[in-house]
Order: sequence, then C-alpha cells, then structure tokens
Amino acid sequence: MTATALILAAGEGTRMKSALPKVAHAILGVPMVMHVITAARRGGVDDVVVVTGHGADAVESMLAEEAVTFARQERQLGTGHAVMCALEATGRIDGPVVVLAGDVPLVRPETIARLVDTQRRTGAACVLLTAVFPDPAGYGRVIRDAAGSVTAIIEHKDLPDELLCVAEGNVGMYCFDGPALHAHLDRLNPSNTQGEFYLTDLIALFVAEGLRVEAMIADDVDESYGVNSRVQLAEATKVLQRRINREHMRAGVTMTDPDLVWVGPGVTIGRDTVIEPMTQLHGDTHIGEACLLGPDTRITDSAVGDGCTIDSSIVTGSRLGEGVTVGPRAYLRQGTVMGSGSKAGTSVELKNVRIGERSKVPHLSYIGDADIGTDANIGAGTITCNYDGFRKHRTTIGDGAFIGSDTMLIAPVRVGSGAVTGAGSAISHDVPADALAVERTVQETFEGWAAARRAANEQGDR
Ligand code: UD1
Ligand code: CA
Repeated sequence: MTATALILAAGEGTRMKSALPKVAHAILGVPMVMHVITAARRGGVDDVVVVTGHGADAVESMLAEEAVTFARQERQLGTGHAVMCALEATGRIDGPVVVLAGDVPLVRPETIARLVDTQRRTGAACVLLTAVFPDPAGYGRVIRDAAGSVTAIIEHKDLPDELLCVAEGNVGMYCFDGPALHAHLDRLNPSNTQGEFYLTDLIALFVAEGLRVEAMIADDVDESYGVNSRVQLAEATKVLQRRINREHMRAGVTMTDPDLVWVGPGVTIGRDTVIEPMTQLHGDTHIGEACLLGPDTRITDSAVGDGCTIDSSIVTGSRLGEGVTVGPRAYLRQGTVMGSGSKAGTSVELKNVRIGERSKVPHLSYIGDADIGTDANIGAGTITCNYDGFRKHRTTIGDGAFIGSDTMLIAPVRVGSGAVTGAGSAISHDVPADALAVERTVQETFEGWAAARRAANEQGDR
C-alpha cells in the first residue's frame, strides 16, 4: 500500500518577523518546506499533502509546480486538527501516514523510510521518532512505563513538575497506520493548557485500547531541529551546509574551506573538482570532474562540463562544455551555451548566446542574442547592439571569424566565416565570408602639434 505524508505548515511563525510565511524561507536556496517534501519523496512516500493556513496563498503558489495536494486549515486549532483537515482533503487512506512539520527541514530521507518500514513491519498504530535532548524544554515528553513501553506524550506546558526532568522528547515526526488514525482522530479534545487538539494525545488513546505504539530513537538530534526564528534559520543552514559539503568531500571533491562554500541540495559535483572559498552552487546545477571553481563564484541552474575553470564569476541558466574557461569577473546569463575549449574572459557578459568550440571572448565584451561558430576570436570591447529599444535582434558570427577590438555589431547582422572586422568599427551590414569590413573615419596626423602646444602653454606661465 502506498505511503502518504502529511506536512503540517499552517502555523504562523511570528518569531520570524516576516511578510513571508515561515516555511517559504530558504535554506541553501530551497524553501524550508521543499526540503521536507523532497525528504519525504526520497524516503519512499508516494503522496504528499501540505496543510496550509497562515500565508496559504503564498505557500500554495510557491509549490504550484509540485505534485502535492493542499489542505487548508483556516484556523490553527492544533496539530491534531491540522491532520483532521488533511484527511478531509485526501479521504480514506489505507496505507501508512507519515506526519512531518514544514519547519523541521533537516529530516533525512533514511529516517522517514525507517519510520515507514517500522510501521509496515510491526503494524503499529503509530511509530514515533524521539530524541534525547540536552535541553528538552518546549518539547512534548515521551512517557514510558516500567517495562520501557511508551504510554503517552505530554506537552511541555501540561507537564507536572515531577516529569520536567524527562529528557526524551517527541520530535514531531510519526508514521501512523491509516485506518487507526482515521478511527481515533475524532476522539481528540482541546481540554489542555493551550486549548488545542493535540496530535500527541493519540498515543495514550492507542495504548488504552491495546494498540501497538513503537518509539524510534533518532540517530542524529540535528534532524529534529525546528526553525522558529532567523537565528535558527541560520543555524539550520549551517548544519545542512556541513552535511552536504561533507558528502561531496567524501565523494572526491576538494573544498579548501568548506565553511565558505555553499552547495544546494540538488547539486551534483564530479570528483577531483576543487572549490575555492566564497563559492555558491545552487538550484539544478551539475558540475563535471576536475573543475576549478572560485574563489568568489556563484553558479545557479547550470551544467558545467569536465575540466572547466570558473574564477570570480556569476553563471546562471548556462551550459558549458569541457575545458571551458570563465572569468575573472564574467557574468554568464540565461541561455548561454559554451562549446568545449571556449573562453569568456575578464569582465565579459554573455546572454542567450551560443559560442562554438574553441571560440574566445577574452576581455570586456557584451555578447547577447548571438550565435558564434567555432574557432572565432572576439576582440576586447566588442558589443552586440542587440536591442533597438523595442525588440531584440540576433547577431551571427561564422567559424573562424576575427572580430576586431571595440567592434559594435548592430543587430540583426551576420559576419561570415573567416571574415575580419577592423577595430573600432560599427558593423551594421552583413559581412561575407573571408571579407574585411572596416567602418571608421580616416585618421589625420599633425606633425609636431603636441610639442607646439606644450611650448605655448609654458610661455603663458611666464
Ligand atoms: C509539537 C508537538 C510536540 C513536539 C514538538 C516538536 C503537538 C501537540 N506537540 O509541539 O510534542 O515535541 O512539536 O517540535 O503536536 N501546525 C499546523 N496547524 C496547527 C498547529 C501546528 O499546521 O494548528 C504546524 C506548525 O506550523 C508546525 C507543526 O505543526 O509546522 C508543529 O506545530 P508547533 O506549534 O510548532 O508544535 P509544538 O507546540 O512545537
Ligand atoms: Ca504550539
């Protein structure tokens, strides 16, 4: 039977002091709730339901592309009530039901898989994740009988003084048996300190009926780290940064200072790649083997082939072949495709451009909306004038063309293969293959003019 995850994300998150819903805040470029959704999917969950309330429109539109179901919880009457709202949206669920919190983003797929497996194996009404906290204040406490079996969870605010010392806390992640969950939810009542429907009250209800409850102790307390403030957001980011970087280093990536490298969860990096400090890799980014990235580099939603060097540059929405050189201080924007062995050098901006193999744009250029063949050389200061104030136009440069320094290519325009443009030319007409096009006024030279001017100036001083 398929497993379903309910992700509770209706809470307000006042301590974030933000116009943005709490679960929309990003950790390493990914909204918190997305980390939880991804972990659930990787942990073997088939269907995901997100319970929204505060900032529901924003959360739902942020997740519009995801294959998830939304359940609205208009008033936040507690975690038990949030689950009731979710089950109203899904209807009957026969398989295991995992419950997770949208603001506990560090949960690992393996942990979710372990909860589901344990529930399937034991048939327990509930398998809950617990952890022994150095400071359990704020957590619901796990109460066990003399034999060590869990009998109840008591919320911190409802805890009698003699139980304050219990260090085993409820992490807030569970796997329920679907039918048992359905059968008992309507027995919850809000007669507690907070006047809420506590999901955690189900434990004592199950035990009273002789249903099985299993507790699983978390391997890693970090996984249960909840984010309620910006300080905790930064701490969670640090934990995830270290976790991700360690995995890459173990797989053969060098990071000279991993505290100064930020890699998003979806990024892949080939072995023997070296990443220098102040480098960020985000989104759908894939880096080949033996690349040298950074320092001071940001790469987002891009594919980089083997053996590339990217120094002090920004790369977004681009595809680079093998052995491409970028930077220092290049800006590769959406739609840049660079063939193997090509180069975008110092202070070069590229946008929506195809650059053929071995072609070079070494210095101080803007090339946008262009197709450049193979083995072309684009001189320093070349600009494609692609925008006429209304529309964008394309520039096409053939194989082996040589564009002189400071050429203005006024698009739409084509420069044939093997053609040459003279430095300083404004090229507005097509240039045939193997031709030279020069557009500049004839130089005038006045012998001795400068010396005479200096002399006149010195006389004036006297
Ligand atoms: C909950 C548990 C507690 C556990 C702790 C771990 C209950 C009653 N208590 O307490 O045992 O130790 O988590 O962090 O479950 N939410 C909704 N709708 C609501 C209420 C909450 O969607 O009506 C969501 C919140 O947005 C949050 C999650 O559920 O993502 C947990 O809610 P929160 O209020 O933080 O629970 P705690 O009081 O911390
Ligand atoms: Ca609460």
